[in-house]
Amino acid sequence: MKVTEAELADCSRITFGKTEGFFRLSRAGRGRVKIAVFEGMVGNSAPMLDVYAAIRKYAEKSSPVLITGETGTGKEIVARAMHKLSGRPDKTYVTLNCATLPRDLAESELFGHEKGAFTGAHEARAGAFEAADGGTLFLDEIGEMPLEMQAKLLRAVQYGEVKRVGGNKTTVVKTRVVAATNRDLAAEVKAGKFREDLFYRLNVIPIALPPLRDRLEDVPVIADYLLDEMSEGSVALTDKAKAKLKTHDWPGNVRELHNALSVAMNNCKGGVVDAGDLRFQPARLKQQVELWKVRKPHMSLADAEKAIILDELDRQGGHREKTAKALGMGLTTLKRKLRAWGVITENRVRSV
Ligand SMILES: Nc1ncnc2c1ncn2[C@@H]1O[C@H](COP(=O)(O)OP(=O)(O)OP(=O)(O)O)[C@@H](O)[C@H]1O
Ligand SMILES: [Mg+2]
Repeated sequence: MKVTEAELADCSRITFGKTEGFFRLSRAGRGRVKIAVFEGMVGNSAPMLDVYAAIRKYAEKSSPVLITGETGTGKEIVARAMHKLSGRPDKTYVTLNCATLPRDLAESELFGHEKGAFTGAHEARAGAFEAADGGTLFLDEIGEMPLEMQAKLLRAVQYGEVKRVGGNKTTVVKTRVVAATNRDLAAEVKAGKFREDLFYRLNVIPIALPPLRDRLEDVPVIADYLLDEMSEGSVALTDKAKAKLKTHDWPGNVRELHNALSVAMNNCKGGVVDAGDLRFQPARLKQQVELWKVRKPHMSLADAEKAIILDELDRQGGHREKTAKALGMGLTTLKRKLRAWGVITENRVRSV
């Protein structure tokens, strides 16, 4: 339809075919349309435009895709967009989270099993590769895939060959593999935690999502969009609130922004979120998130806890009361742990 004239309010959403845009009023009162929504993703920063372009360019190909990015940067929406624009969106989209895959069932989940293949295998069942034949298999958190499974995965990714557990027939599938991780897989390869051949096989089409702090210009746009969605258009942000949003570094990226807005929306008055309604993670928690990010690959929860506690103790110059307070834990618990780790013997703190 040819539109020659339309009256639009600031932030109106407009749809052009499959593309959505925002109508924005500039400070001078002039309006302009910003194409802001791409398959559920908002943000016009240069790196995000590159991401949209890559999705458009490669969605219809069949080579594997490796999406990387910190937690909450939108890896999952990118995977869905790849499928939706693949030209076979009616085909199956299957998600498998490698981090929560039970070790003993990983092979069966991926490749299926025949009846009686193991105790409890009462029926033959197709695995994720077969279920997604002709469609897309999203392997989330691929960095957590156990090493022993990686060789089998390589065959499936490389040749589309899958063999059910307990079966001897090889089936060839046309499954597009899209993998995602928040780990640095190249570093994992160097550390011997991830197979090099599998890494190269998956990294044919790399899509890297930048952290939100590296594209703060996107924050107000995404915030407008998310708040509009959440409140069904009934709550808006003030300019001061938007400015405040740009002062935070968003370690949890868009997910954290979403949560902050959701809290603000419920606390605000009169359908307006102002700077005072916005609360970010307190510094202490942020510090821990930072620490968490430097945690070593495959570190256990117990080791991570130890690293966090010892780091804080170091930060507090060995002061146990302050350390316990900073970490929000009881002093007795802290002392018990330190004693167990041999960091203190009775009352003396050893150098940590
Ligand atoms: N550019 C964006 N525009 C709008 N919403 C976004 C954008 N990026 C992410 N989101 C939203 O942020 C949330 C987190 O995104 P998503 O689940 O895709 O992150 P992720 O990278 O998979 O994180 P994780 O590594 O923790 O699984 C989702 O609700 C998603 O819809
Ligand atoms: Mg995810």
